[in-house]
Amino acid sequence: MALLEVKNIKKNFGKTEVLKDISFELNKGEVLAIIGSSGSGKTTLLRCLNYLEIPDCGSIIVNNVPVYDSNAAVKYTEKDIRELRLHFGLVFQSFNLFPQYTVFENVTLAPKLKIKEAIKNKTLDASDKNVALEKVNNKAYELLKMVGLSEKEKSYPCELSGGQQQRVAIARALALSPEILCFDEPTSALDPELTGEVLKVIKELANEDRTMIVVTHEMEFAKNVADKVIFMADGVIEEMGTPEEVFDNPKSYKTRAFLNKSLETF
Ligand SMILES: Nc1ncnc2c1ncn2[C@@H]1O[C@H](COP(=O)(O)OP(=O)(O)O)[C@@H](O)[C@H]1O
Ligand SMILES: [Mg+2]
Repeated sequence: MALLEVKNIKKNFGKTEVLKDISFELNKGEVLAIIGSSGSGKTTLLRCLNYLEIPDCGSIIVNNVPVYDSNAAVKYTEKDIRELRLHFGLVFQSFNLFPQYTVFENVTLAPKLKIKEAIKNKTLDASDKNVALEKVNNKAYELLKMVGLSEKEKSYPCELSGGQQQRVAIARALALSPEILCFDEPTSALDPELTGEVLKVIKELANEDRTMIVVTHEMEFAKNVADKVIFMADGVIEEMGTPEEVFDNPKSYKTRAFLNKSLETF
C-alpha cells in the first residue's frame, strides 16, 4: 500500500484550471521529483498537499487515512486541519524563516506551540511539559547538527547566507517529524555556489529513506536522487516514471521539448 495516494485532484483559481486531474502514488521512503515549466501548477499541488490551498475535487490519502476528500460529508475544523497538516512538511523557495527569532527558536517554535496546545486540550499532562520541552530542544540540536549549523543556533536569519537559511528551514520542517517532506524549488533563490550545500542535505535525507517530494529545476539532482519523476505541463501530469524513463526515454513531445530547453540553459 502506498504511503501517499493523490486521487483526481482539481483546483481552479477563478476560471483558470490550474490542476486538472492529478493522481499519483508515493511509497514510504521514495523520493518524487516534480519538474515542469513555470506556471504548470507545481507549487499549487504542493500547497494542496499542505492544506495551504483546498482542492475543488479529489482526495488525498496518507497511510490509508483520507486527509482530504471532497466527497466526505464531514467537514474538518481548523483544529483537525492543523493536525492533518502535520503529515506534511514544506520547505519554501524563499526560506520563510521568522526574522525576529534565532535559528534555534525558528526550529523549536512550532513543536513548542504543539506542546502548549496538547496541554490545553488535555492530551498531554502538564506535569510532562518539561520532559516534552527537553525532547524538542534535544531534537533541535540534533537537526541543526545534521544540517551542519550547530554553531549558528543563536544567530538570526539575517546573519546567515541563503544556503544556511535554507538549511535552517529544512531543520525546522523536520522538527515536526512529518511523514512526507515537500520542497518547492529549494535552491532556485540561491546563488549557484550555495546550491550544492542544500542539495547535499536533501540527498542525505533521501539516503535515510525519508519520503520526499521535491519540485526542482535541478535536472541532474532529480535524475540522481529521485525514485520517481513527474513532468507537469499545463496542470496535468504529462509524464510519470523512473528517472531513466522520463529523462532518457521521454515518451511525450512536451517532455522532450522541456528537457531540451532545460539542457540549453546549462
Ligand atoms: N492564488 C492564486 N490566485 C490565482 N491564480 C493563481 C494563484 N496561485 C497560482 N495561480 C496561477 O496558477 C498557475 C500555476 O501556478 P503555480 O502552481 O505557482 O505554478 P508553478 O509552481 O509550476 O510555477 C499560474 O497560472 C498562476 O498564475
Ligand atoms: Mg512554483
